[in-house]
Amino acid sequence: MNKQTDTVLNYHNRTKHRLDRYAKGPESIDWEDQPDQFRRFSGCNIVALPKPGIELEPLFAELDSPETIPAKPLTLVNAGLLLELAFGLSAWKQFGPSRWALRCNPSSGNLHPTEAYLVSSGNDFIKSGVYHYVSHDHSLEERCQFACNLPDSGLLIGLSSVHWREAWKYGERAYRYCQHDTGHALGALRYAAATLGWSVELLAEWSDDDIAKLLGLDRDDFKPLEQESPDLICRIKTHPDGKLLETPRYTTTDNSINHPLPTGEGFHKRTNDDHPSHYNSKPLDTKALLEQAQSGIWSGKADSLRAYHLYKWPIIDEVAIAASKPRTKEPEWQTVRQHTIKSTGTKTATAIIRQRRSAQQFDGKMPPMPQTDFYRMLAAVLPTTAAFEHWRWPPKIHLFIFVHRVEGLAPGLYALPRDHDALEPLQAATLADFDWQKVSAAIPLYHLYSGECRQIAKTVSCHQPIASDSAFSLGMVAEFSETIETAPWLYRRLFWECGLIGQVLYLEAEAAGIRGTGIGCYFDDSVHELLGFKDEQFQSLYHFTVGKPLEDKRLETLPAYGHLKDIAQ
Ligand SMILES: Cc1cc2nc3c(=O)[nH]c(=O)nc-3n(C[C@H](O)[C@H](O)[C@H](O)COP(=O)(O)O)c2cc1C
Repeated sequence: MNKQTDTVLNYHNRTKHRLDRYAKGPESIDWEDQPDQFRRFSGCNIVALPKPGIELEPLFAELDSPETIPAKPLTLVNAGLLLELAFGLSAWKQFGPSRWALRCNPSSGNLHPTEAYLVSSGNDFIKSGVYHYVSHDHSLEERCQFACNLPDSGLLIGLSSVHWREAWKYGERAYRYCQHDTGHALGALRYAAATLGWSVELLAEWSDDDIAKLLGLDRDDFKPLEQESPDLICRIKTHPDGKLLETPRYTTTDNSINHPLPTGEGFHKRTNDDHPSHYNSKPLDTKALLEQAQSGIWSGKADSLRAYHLYKWPIIDEVAIAASKPRTKEPEWQTVRQHTIKSTGTKTATAIIRQRRSAQQFDGKMPPMPQTDFYRMLAAVLPTTAAFEHWRWPPKIHLFIFVHRVEGLAPGLYALPRDHDALEPLQAATLADFDWQKVSAAIPLYHLYSGECRQIAKTVSCHQPIASDSAFSLGMVAEFSETIETAPWLYRRLFWECGLIGQVLYLEAEAAGIRGTGIGCYFDDSVHELLGFKDEQFQSLYHFTVGKPLEDKRLETLPAYGHLKDIAQ
């Protein structure tokens, strides 16, 4: 095992919550020390984005087939909508004198470590350069002006994380939550793009160093402890002119990369011919783009997050270095698009995206949820759906589900392997008396054990009632040790895949008229013991719960952008 993987493994094991002690965090929360949720760079030109809140026609159900949604033109209005629907504010909540913003993308503890950047070159709607999105103001800060335009660069969105925002409250485990949030943000970006008739290409070959160079994260513009770590860069395909572009995307050019493809019932390979509606634009000239960023005119210094940094968590810097990504070759892996169970929702995608919230409490006396809704939600997280089109690798995350209240299903434990090749290893690694009987023809759902699991689900999720009062809660189990053995940066990608699945569940729950909540707090090894895992081949990396929410009537809800009176139309 190489040294970096060793550091990552140590971090992972050290930051497990256990029944008898939580991972290391601050002994008390100093609310005065809470870092500012909204980053701003002083000294930049500001580009105001047109009024947020525009409703678009596409139904949420239509996002299953995004190629049927007419592509919007690439304008400032639509680029603004993309940012708003992915990372913008969705509401303010008020309780007494306290007021806090919610966003379209969720975040552990509502701390929002993720920052978003827009990079544009050779587009008419904005000067070529690098821009930081300020979700509070729905505006762009011009961080860098490029000297010239690079045709065919399209529109790029970059994401980074301010680890301190999470570490302030959650201590050492915070790095994991930042990665979950990145996955959620990537999911949010895909739904926002699909609503506009656009699609997302994850430029997974890029190294972290190159992302930092392009976004200006390597510059001396940040206070110590408040730097941003590069996460990922995406190209938004806006299908210019609506014309078909030359190179079909679904090819593997690097034969040395041999990834297993899912096969068998409920699993299909994607091939070159399956997506006649999605086309590659010209390959991005990464070198030329980086040169533009390096020779461009940069402006602005990051404002202080106004935190004292009372505690220090150096292990987060250590793991961040060990899990930093070099430039890599990535396979062009995809599966055949298949939605086995159609969405029946009638709300628009913009409505669903803006109404997404985390349930704080569930109605533990709810009648069982309809089985069709349950199956649809599980079908929606399979890698064959449009929601995972920008995810370029075979699935590594599988679900173990505590069913509490679902029509026609015995309460108990179920499994949803998201890759047929994982079925046997999962069977071999879990308790021998699990039943592994398939319960649905449409999705790879297996019954493992019948019996009330409410108490155990609550206990392993840090005693949180949201895991037991719901219709179902679940653990996302990763193919762990083998994945990170030679490529420690894949540790982050496993959490991103979890976040992506979580984002699908959040939105699907809203579409089904109920609600979800991500659960980052769970007792890792208690979950592993419950399932029968004896080593690190599989590890649970995220939990989630879905049910009928109970509203807290004491909270007032205010409009997302009511504070921006004079915003341009
Ligand atoms: C990675 C992650 C972990 C979370 N963990 C928990 C948790 O353990 N318990 C909980 O009640 N909420 C949890 N949440 C929900 C957040 O508190 C919620 O997203 C945040 O307060 C913002 O609210 P919103 O989702 O309604 O926008 C989690 C959310 C995410 C994204």
